[in-house]
Amino acid sequence: MALAFAVKSMVTKAPLWSLKNYNSRSIKHEGAIVTNLTENQDLLKQSATFGAMTEATPLDWQIIAAHNRVFANDVAGRVIDHLRLLDGDCGGFAVDRLEHSVQTATRAYRANKSEEYVVCSLLHDIGDTLGSYNHPDIAVAVLKPFVSEDHLWMVEKHGIFQGYNFFHHLGLDRDMRDQFLGHRAYDLTVEFCQDFDQPAFDPSYDSMPLSEFVPAVEAIFAEPKNSIYLDDDGQMIGTSS
Ligand SMILES: [Fe+2]
Ligand SMILES: [Fe+2]
Repeated sequence: MALAFAVKSMVTKAPLWSLKNYNSRSIKHEGAIVTNLTENQDLLKQSATFGAMTEATPLDWQIIAAHNRVFANDVAGRVIDHLRLLDGDCGGFAVDRLEHSVQTATRAYRANKSEEYVVCSLLHDIGDTLGSYNHPDIAVAVLKPFVSEDHLWMVEKHGIFQGYNFFHHLGLDRDMRDQFLGHRAYDLTVEFCQDFDQPAFDPSYDSMPLSEFVPAVEAIFAEPKNSIYLDDDGQMIGTSS
């Protein structure tokens, strides 16, 4: 073992992005599969014994790392569950926030946007339940380990860019987005808001069901790319052998 941790969890990515794969998958989160857990069963049956972190031993952290790999493996499932909290919450709009989310993602999917783009579209308003005054920041925190800088910026700034379509009705500056003119992801974010986000309040639109997006969410969340817990080889600390 290169590391003291004996945990070796192999994460298998969900099938590549395609409608065919969408339809072949159940709504249950099955894209990320943990294997080789048998050898970790002893660790998974144990709990750390320390009451303060300063008292922890390497074994304690082997145990915690083993449990964390199992838990982290279903982050996509928890994201989907959290999205469902938007169901039935209209906030004065003609559609509820879940329909707005899947409608935005459906429009992006049908425009042949990438898997990562579509998942960002699906999750861009996931923070509506917790971030009443800064909802894009919640989505950014969830997506940050898994998507590109440009897509993350698009999600982060969509609240300001979307303002072009309604800030003037509230006495605000609809051109607030202009402060970002020249940014690499400016046009990307304009496109997201104008082509996919702002038209996604149509009660008559034929949106795909949330279940059809589950494999894409699983695929994106299967492999963190940006995290302080990644080693120089891009492996999660505690999983190298
Ligand atoms: Fe939003
Ligand atoms: Fe939105």
